[in-house]
Amino acid sequence: MQGPEQGTERHGTAPESVPVVNYPGFARAFARMSNSEPGRQTFERLRRQTAGRARGVTLEVGAGGGPNFAYYDPALVERVEATEPDANMLRYAREQAAQARVPVTLTQAPAEALPFADETFDTAVVTLVFCSVVDPARSMRELARTLKPGGRLLMAEHVRSEHAAISAVQSALAPITRRAAANCHWNRDTASVVRQSGLTEISVTRLRYPSAWYSALEDGLLPILLIEARKPGG
Ligand SMILES: C[S@@+](CC[C@H](N)C(=O)[O-])C[C@H]1O[C@@H](n2cnc3c(N)ncnc32)[C@H](O)[C@@H]1O
Repeated sequence: MQGPEQGTERHGTAPESVPVVNYPGFARAFARMSNSEPGRQTFERLRRQTAGRARGVTLEVGAGGGPNFAYYDPALVERVEATEPDANMLRYAREQAAQARVPVTLTQAPAEALPFADETFDTAVVTLVFCSVVDPARSMRELARTLKPGGRLLMAEHVRSEHAAISAVQSALAPITRRAAANCHWNRDTASVVRQSGLTEISVTRLRYPSAWYSALEDGLLPILLIEARKPGG
C-alpha cells in the first residue's frame, strides 16, 4: 500500500478570510479527556460508527487530539489525511497518529479552506466539529468538493434540539458555550447544512450512549446525530 510516512505533517495556508483557531486551554482539556479511558468509553460508539466505517483514501477534518485514529481499519483504509486548525490540538494528534494502524498525515487547516484537490477522497469523517466551525455552509462545500463522486460523508455532531423549548435554552446558552468551549454552539442545525450541500442519500439517525450521565444530556441539551451522505456520481 502506497502512502505518506505515518505521522508526517503538512502545513496548509489558511486564506485571510479564515480566522485562526487558537484555544490552548480547551485543546489541552478536550484532547486529554477524549484520549482518556472514560473519554474513550463515552465516545466509542460515535467513533466506531464514523471512523470505524471509513474506506479508501480518507479525509478527517477537525481531528482534535486524534482520538478517531485508532478506529481506522487497515484492511479498509488506505491512508488518512487529517486536518486540524488549532496548533495546540495538533500536538496531541501527533501522538495518536504515531500509534495509528493506518498512515495518518496531519495538516494544519480549517474546514473552510481544505488544502486538497477536488475529488480526492473516498470517505470524509467529521466528529463533533460543525458545532465550532466559523462557517458551516462553506465547510460543507469544501467537504463535498474534495469527496470523489460516490464518496461518502460519515459525520457525528451534537445539534439543535427538535423541541422548541429545549432549542430556546440551547440558544440562550450558546453565547456562554461559545466563550467557554472554543466557539462551540449548542444550537446548530447541522443536518440542514448537509441537506443543502448537494450531497445525496442522506441518512440521519440518533446516536445513543452507554453511560447514564451522557444519556441525560443527549436527550436534553446535547442530542447527537449520525449523519451519512454520498456525493452523486461514481
Ligand atoms: C470538540 S473538538 C472535537 C475533536 C475531534 N473531532 C473529536 O471527535 O474528538 C472540536 C474540534 O474542531 C476544531 N475546529 C474548530 N474550528 C474549526 C474549523 N473552522 N475547521 C476545522 N476544525 C475546527 C477544534 O480545533 C477542535 O479540534
